[in-house]
Amino acid sequence: MSGVPQVPQKDPQKTFYLETFGCQMNVHDSEKVVGTLVQEGYRQVETVEQADLVLYNTCSIRDKAEQKVFNRLADYKKYKKQGKTFGVLGCVAQQEGEKIFERAPYVSLVCGSASYRNLPDMLVQIEAGKQRVTGLDDRETDACFETEFTARTNPHRGYITIIEGCDKFCAYCVVPYTRGKERSRTSESVLAEARQMADLGYTEIQLLGQNVSSFKDPAGKQTFAELLAAVGEVPGIRRVRFTTSHPRDFGRDIVDAIDAVPTLCDHVHLPVQSGSTRVLDAMQRLYTREQYLERIAWMKSAKREISITTDVIVGFPGETEADFAATLGLLEEVGYDAVFAFKYSPRPNTPSLKLDDAIPDEEKAHRLEVLMARQREIQITRYKKYIGTNCEVMVEGRNEPRAQWIGRTTHNKTLNFTAPQTATPKAGTYAPVLITGSFPNSLLGELVI
Ligand code: 5AD
Ligand code: SF4
Repeated sequence: MSGVPQVPQKDPQKTFYLETFGCQMNVHDSEKVVGTLVQEGYRQVETVEQADLVLYNTCSIRDKAEQKVFNRLADYKKYKKQGKTFGVLGCVAQQEGEKIFERAPYVSLVCGSASYRNLPDMLVQIEAGKQRVTGLDDRETDACFETEFTARTNPHRGYITIIEGCDKFCAYCVVPYTRGKERSRTSESVLAEARQMADLGYTEIQLLGQNVSSFKDPAGKQTFAELLAAVGEVPGIRRVRFTTSHPRDFGRDIVDAIDAVPTLCDHVHLPVQSGSTRVLDAMQRLYTREQYLERIAWMKSAKREISITTDVIVGFPGETEADFAATLGLLEEVGYDAVFAFKYSPRPNTPSLKLDDAIPDEEKAHRLEVLMARQREIQITRYKKYIGTNCEVMVEGRNEPRAQWIGRTTHNKTLNFTAPQTATPKAGTYAPVLITGSFPNSLLGELVI
């Protein structure tokens, strides 16, 4: 479960290097891939030079991600002569498929996320001399990548996948094509993993999925809100987070669960994408501005203050000045604690590819800048109001040059704090901090002793 699995190594000579790009799902998939490979007798190394097997776990969500992967692979062409094996994993692998072999003939393995559990078999085939092996999903799979051998990189907080894939088909998004159809794990297996993690000393769990709020227990036992509450009640667990939720499936019961279970963190990431119902409609987001705001109102009426963050796309085809102004207005109205904003970029296979991407890049860049500047002002005001209050942080480490400790609040904010020399807060422990200062993206404080 944690660290490097304690299993006898079959052939400790075999080494691999794994580089990961993209979202938390990819980061966690890589933890599972590492665990699986170690179980198969591989040893992880820090550089390409040291490795027999070189793997890239790729992301294709935005921009010209495929091109970046091919450029990177080209850099490593020279190593092929040294007998290294190259593999491309993740969303670009799934999206480009066998085309990768044509453009980068030195690659031997192409595998999308829905086929990771077949990686050991695929590697055996390569060892047996097969030149090219693929694991590509046709959106029909029911498989989840469950493994006992997850090599989690942090010993205190860790991810648990509860649902893979996505059935929403938002017009701009490549995920339904790269990660396949929605498939949930049973709440029982999620809870078993949570208990196992608690036994190993983990105190924070983050439930992961492309769309956690459409979790559907195949055994029919628990709803997402019930599962969330149950994970929060696992003895030893002090913090539970979840990401990402789709507003369409985000039920009031999730807020009720946060109200009822103190270990559920006071933070919800609820991507809005646009503040204009017209654009939301073109994006096929399945909710209106008003419906989104209704969910915000639920959160604002919660017993504890819930910090809300979001994702926004600017410059979606057809977005007018008025639509963009509606998004700026929404930022004011909601009062987000963080906004992840992106310029629209057309993605292969997606419905919006057929729309005319007529907004020039400079205009998209301008809108992005205006939006981020506005949001910065909002955050300055919002973060300031915490000054003078106390809160608990999970200690994450030390910032030596600044002689500060780094902590994270339940609101998922970074809180850097000072402590007397006699106090040495340990990573993974929880500490009370008095907030003494604020920045647009973080807080400052002093350890309370
Ligand atoms: N262009 C720009 N941003 C995108 N996102 C997803 N697809 C695209 C795209 N084609 C953004 C969305 C999503 C986040 C993970 O990435 O805001 O919520
Ligand atoms: Fe990128 Fe989406 Fe794939 Fe994650 S699931 S790696 S965000 S394309």
